Amino acid sequence: MLAFLVAIVALWLQSAWGQNSASCQAVTQHLSDPPYQNYFYSDCNSDTQAVVTSPLPDSKLSIIGPRLVIAWPAGNSGICTFFQPQNGLNGSLAIELVNSTLGSPLAPVYRPTRGSQYAFVGVQGVLSFNASATLTIPILGSVRTIRDFTEGPSLLRPIIQEAINVTRTNGTGATFSRLWLDNVTTTTFTLVPYQSMDSNITIHPQNKTISFGSGFYTFSASFNYPQLTQLPPSRVLNRASEDLIQEQPDETTSLSFLSYTEKLLAGAWRFLTYFGRDSMISALLLEPILSQGNGSATEAVIGAVLEPINRTDGSVCHEETIGDYATYLNLQNNITSTAPGFTYPMIDTDYYLPVLMAQYFSSSPDRVGPLLSRRAGSIDPQNRNLTYANLSLINAQRIMNITAPFALNQSSANLIHLKPEDIVGQWRDSTYGLGGGRIPFDVNTALVPAALRAIGQLARTPGVYPHNTRVNTTSWATSADSRAQVWEESTLLFFETNTTASTARSRLQHFVETATFYDGPTNASSLPSSGNVTTYSIALQGYNNLSSVDVLHSDTGFRLFFVNATSRTLEASAQETRFINATANSMTRPFPAGLMTPQSMVVANPALSGSDVLISNFTNAAYHGTVIWSFQLAMMAKGLERQLARCNSSMNSATAIPAWCGISSVRTNVLRAYNVLWDSIEASSVQLQGEVWSWTYSNSTGFVTTPLGALPPPPGVSAGTESDVRQLWSLTFLAVQRNRILR
Ligand SMILES: *[C@@H]1O[C@H](CO)[C@@H](O)[C@H](O)[C@H]1NC(C)=O
Ligand SMILES: *[C@@H]1O[C@H](CO)[C@@H](O)[C@H](O)[C@H]1NC(C)=O
Ligand SMILES: *[C@@H]1O[C@H](CO)[C@@H](O)[C@H](O)[C@H]1NC(C)=O
Ligand SMILES: *[C@@H]1O[C@H](CO)[C@@H](O)[C@H](O)[C@H]1NC(C)=O
Ligand SMILES: *[C@@H]1O[C@H](CO)[C@@H](O)[C@H](O)[C@H]1NC(C)=O
Ligand SMILES: *[C@@H]1O[C@H](CO)[C@@H](O)[C@H](O)[C@H]1NC(C)=O
Ligand SMILES: *[C@@H]1O[C@H](CO)[C@@H](O)[C@H](O)[C@H]1NC(C)=O
Ligand SMILES: *[C@@H]1O[C@H](CO)[C@@H](O)[C@H](O)[C@H]1NC(C)=O
Ligand SMILES: *[C@@H]1O[C@H](CO)[C@@H](O)[C@H](O)[C@H]1NC(C)=O
Ligand SMILES: *[C@@H]1O[C@H](CO)[C@@H](O)[C@H](O)[C@H]1NC(C)=O
Ligand SMILES: *[C@@H]1O[C@H](CO)[C@@H](O)[C@H](O)[C@H]1NC(C)=O
Ligand SMILES: *[C@@H]1O[C@H](CO)[C@@H](O)[C@H](O)[C@H]1NC(C)=O
Repeated sequence: MLAFLVAIVALWLQSAWGQNSASCQAVTQHLSDPPYQNYFYSDCNSDTQAVVTSPLPDSKLSIIGPRLVIAWPAGNSGICTFFQPQNGLNGSLAIELVNSTLGSPLAPVYRPTRGSQYAFVGVQGVLSFNASATLTIPILGSVRTIRDFTEGPSLLRPIIQEAINVTRTNGTGATFSRLWLDNVTTTTFTLVPYQSMDSNITIHPQNKTISFGSGFYTFSASFNYPQLTQLPPSRVLNRASEDLIQEQPDETTSLSFLSYTEKLLAGAWRFLTYFGRDSMISALLLEPILSQGNGSATEAVIGAVLEPINRTDGSVCHEETIGDYATYLNLQNNITSTAPGFTYPMIDTDYYLPVLMAQYFSSSPDRVGPLLSRRAGSIDPQNRNLTYANLSLINAQRIMNITAPFALNQSSANLIHLKPEDIVGQWRDSTYGLGGGRIPFDVNTALVPAALRAIGQLARTPGVYPHNTRVNTTSWATSADSRAQVWEESTLLFFETNTTASTARSRLQHFVETATFYDGPTNASSLPSSGNVTTYSIALQGYNNLSSVDVLHSDTGFRLFFVNATSRTLEASAQETRFINATANSMTRPFPAGLMTPQSMVVANPALSGSDVLISNFTNAAYHGTVIWSFQLAMMAKGLERQLARCNSSMNSATAIPAWCGISSVRTNVLRAYNVLWDSIEASSVQLQGEVWSWTYSNSTGFVTTPLGALPPPPGVSAGTESDVRQLWSLTFLAVQRNRILR
């Protein structure tokens, strides 16, 4: 059972070192997620997360070993050290971060150094080892380098590892240090015996390991690199939401740790950097509480997205590559440069931008001018000499260009496909996330029409799209909406599948007999006794020549959240009714007949697919398998709420009440789905701020909540996936709340 113990301590430390003696408030947070202990430390000089992993009696020792990770948002930098017991018995070494005279448990490092433009900053504290140990592998530099080792096939890069020096420190201690490829920044990690006169760390220079006896050791982790400026909770939230700082200190402290003046970060510790999709989905869901205006969290998100847009084709950047890893990748391309890199593999990310801009400018129209006249280039040098207005126009042009063919001819060839060179392209960005599908459900049925509606709205908003260009943006004020309507009404059918109830029953039986991770009841009684079961494929054109990937999924929530147009025809209206009813069914039917487990809604379920290959790929250990993602719960909950609100909207042509609102069986079903979902969200409150969680099942124990990182990877995947203890978009429950009127 995963338990989060939370301690938040804010203490005032007098800055003993600063240029001035102004106070430097430290904010600390301890999040226990066994076998992981997470410690956050932020003050006016730097921001740090430390993760101590120590195997539990029931840990799988091939996956979980003693480890210390230090992660810094600045430069997406970090340190990872792996430890082994000297007696060679895996599982016998436990490590722990303890309170000491130094810190409770962390204390800051702040060391201005002659010859270095930036002070050395980081954290120190005392580690306890219950047995004699060896530090076997140190990785110093970028979190990306660490992830290549922990998530990839244990990759270590010679050019990075060979630059590590191990030297004697303070008589009995040892220091690992590495000069980055930029020739300027140095990362250091020091271990010194603490209050024990007789211990002396042994250094093995040949293989750069150190060994030492059991007991207490001071560690210090630092680097000299320009730091980011964190937004305190009072600047992340709008004024009307300031009470949340007292009411939900745990969530608001985490949100603040992930929020900086120039960007919001996706997750801690693995994704302490810019991700376009994560930050925009978060900003959309957090809208009621997020600060707006100059220097606000909302503008940090929009600015960070506009800044690195590909100026040639209008793609929105998925992930930035900064710090030591940027220099490393440049070197791989025979370029000597520390310039950051920007990647554009995702096809969904382009569409969130106009939706977010339209949402923002409709509530803050006075920000159109100040925000869009800003010059790009401070982050992405390639966009120097362009303004944010130029970049948002190029993005809108991209969307108008690539959505045009389908408006003329509604063929599957004209639907939006993944980029030819990529096997991922939307949020399920793992090898089997879409089962190899090339045409994803979310992008085509939800994001494209929503982006077109938003472009229409932005084209009607004075000052957003310039008029003095080759593009006639005035015409978008009407053409984008009529095109959106085509995408709204003509895409669902490509993904819709009817299966007879008896076929569905036999598929469920086959699933429980063959799946390696579930052999419980089929829950087939929740299916209709006869007639059809309607479902929607997660994507079209999957691996193994599957024309559609018939995995039951939660991406239906995107359609509910993003699309609320009125159907023009009876046929479109009937389609909408089938869709919302099927989505509600997927919520109210227990797994494996539906998506609902005692751990809440899984994001994918292959049980009704009738495909053995999908059953073996979409498991409880797959990153996008039968696992629970917090942000998907938030989006589905908000989506259902938005749709239910339409039943009460006033009768005018633009927001006519959907036909299904008048069909009492459907309306009751949707209402029930909303409450079933919220009951499960409330039952999962301890997991809710994490990225993703899973479960295991046996007939004796039933379902048991299990961290994803504790499960061995599914076949064909090189390593399991460790969840982030805090994920930006999982903090959206600060704004997404149960609507008690919908009981
Ligand atoms: C360590 O110190 C912190 C802050 O004072 C406190 O909350 C925590 O309980 C202490 N931990 C232990 C194990 O005493
Ligand atoms: C090393 O010794 C110096 C001087 O006594 C002290 O300031 C510093 O904290 C020590 N470093 C560690 C890591 O113990
Ligand atoms: C620790 O061991 C090293 C040899 O590995 C020796 O040079 C050093 O003097 C020892 N330090 C103390 C304080 O005993
Ligand atoms: C590592 O050792 C080499 C050789 O002594 C030295 O040139 C280099 O500056 C050292 N690097 C660091 C980061 O201490
Ligand atoms: C760092 O120094 C090395 C050796 O002088 C040089 O080859 C390399 O190009 C430098 N790297 C950068 C990013 O300046
Ligand atoms: C490192 O070298 C030392 C001394 O040669 C040896 O005892 C130890 O086993 C080596 N450790 C590793 C992890 O290779
Ligand atoms: C931007 O898009 C163009 C056209 O698709 C492509 O050639 C270029 O490589 C992209 N730029 C980057 C930095 O990926
Ligand atoms: C970099 O240079 C090396 C040696 O000249 C060459 O083998 C390699 O193909 C080059 N790599 C790239 C990406 O150009
Ligand atoms: C902006 O800079 C790029 C690259 O330096 C250059 O190719 C382009 O012509 C410039 N554009 C304008 C509008 O000045
Ligand atoms: C959109 O299409 C027009 C006409 O083919 C082309 O000139 C323009 O470069 C395209 N823009 C983008 C961002 O794709
Ligand atoms: C742009 O489109 C609008 C609306 O379709 C039209 O009235 C206007 O004449 C067009 N402007 C130009 C310069 O073609
Ligand atoms: C599924 O069945 C419904 C009737 O229950 C029908 O209206 C719809 O067209 C069918 N969908 C497909 C893709 O055949």
